[in-house]
Amino acid sequence: MKLSVIGCGYLGAVHASAMAELGHDVIGIDVDAAKIGRLAEGQAPFFEPGLSEVLTSAMKSGRLRFSTDMADVAGAQVHFIAVGTPQKPGSHAADLRFVDAAITALLPHLSVGDLVVGKSTVPVGTAARLAEVIAASGTGASLAWNPEFLREGFAVKDTISPDRLVYGVPSGEAGKHAQALLNQVYATAIAAETPLVVTDYATAELVKVSANAFLATKISFINAMAEIAEVSGADVTQLADAIGFDSRIGRRFLNAGVGFGGGCLPKDIRAFTARAEELGRGESVAFLKEVDAINLRRRQRVVDLTVSALGARAYGRKVAVLGLSFKPHSDDVRDSPALDVAVQLHGLGAEVVATDPQAIDNSRARHPQLTYAVGIEETLRGADAVVLVTEWPEFRAIDPAWAASIVRTPTVIDGRNTLDATAWRAAGWTYHGLGRP
Ligand code: UGA
Repeated sequence: MKLSVIGCGYLGAVHASAMAELGHDVIGIDVDAAKIGRLAEGQAPFFEPGLSEVLTSAMKSGRLRFSTDMADVAGAQVHFIAVGTPQKPGSHAADLRFVDAAITALLPHLSVGDLVVGKSTVPVGTAARLAEVIAASGTGASLAWNPEFLREGFAVKDTISPDRLVYGVPSGEAGKHAQALLNQVYATAIAAETPLVVTDYATAELVKVSANAFLATKISFINAMAEIAEVSGADVTQLADAIGFDSRIGRRFLNAGVGFGGGCLPKDIRAFTARAEELGRGESVAFLKEVDAINLRRRQRVVDLTVSALGARAYGRKVAVLGLSFKPHSDDVRDSPALDVAVQLHGLGAEVVATDPQAIDNSRARHPQLTYAVGIEETLRGADAVVLVTEWPEFRAIDPAWAASIVRTPTVIDGRNTLDATAWRAAGWTYHGLGRP
């Protein structure tokens, strides 16, 4: 099929490449000329495992092109909207200006029978509004909402083999037409018997935000247990293992630590709360404010533990920060707990030296005041405290005896409860986990 993907960020660049890999003919559009320039040369504009390979092979096949000119969508029958919906400045609501701009720019290029497919995470009610805009344009195109559940770090795999497909479609013939086209787009996943839910716009929009709200709640639940563990002497990691054996609960997403970040979970729960309030049902998701508050308290806890480990005086002390991205296998520092902790410690006068396998450039662009080091050894040398805030495999693999010989004081704050506490203590370290004795 001929497809267009509008917006080539973390979502769109992967979607465009994966769709071309699956055999479709794809044009990726973005207003950012630098990004399109890199993509057109077959270079991934951000770090995502497997993306470069898929991008290169799709470009070689001739099935993938990139452009800044919306007119180049001509000939495509299905148009994916994959632009960002960040938090609005000064508000908790989602900023829909990029979605609206994408639709406005696309309208003049739509033809009868074309399908516009929203993938961006939007407040419930957005698709119905956009469907009216498309209907009023008289182009004969229609709209479906097809939320995306990919995880950064696994984005290519999640796009090629999704764990479910959700189509929000209009009723009647238009809905059947939309479903038929989407089934062609996702023919490989459909053939693999991927679960499919065909529903209305509102449900499709809500599936996405409620999935992220559930995941955020699960993480904040275990982090709340960590807070209780801290005042009662219990160990939250053992608690998570024990409750996780109950298949109704499950162990995944029960890792207590510095909390969730990234471009999705934090802003999505805030936008959900804002939208529910607009709909007069703020009380239904008021607990998400608590989920957010618990999450932000965990960042403060890591900072407090570090300052206390430094004898209540951070000023002038060297703190080695391991990790800057919001999670491993990503260079994304949007709302990253790791970067936030580094910045807060710097603000308290500590001499922060931070490292990350992929996220130094993005971190430096946002926070040039921090000192960044490329290697683990350079980061640790002479440190008065070590703070691990992103569980990259290379940090987990650090030999504690070797590390103890490099730092000034062998004190580690494990903000992800990911190190072997026994091994680190045996190597002479004072080990502090979160929610652990
Ligand atoms: C999340 C969802 O998992 C995806 O399904 C969704 O498609 C995506 O948002 C989106 O809306 O686009 P992602 O932001 O890539 O994906 O990251 P997650 O793997 O969900 O992790 C989010 C944060 O939670 C990270 O900071 C991670 O370190 C933290 N986390 C995760 C924990 O603190 N504890 C856990 O047990 C699991």
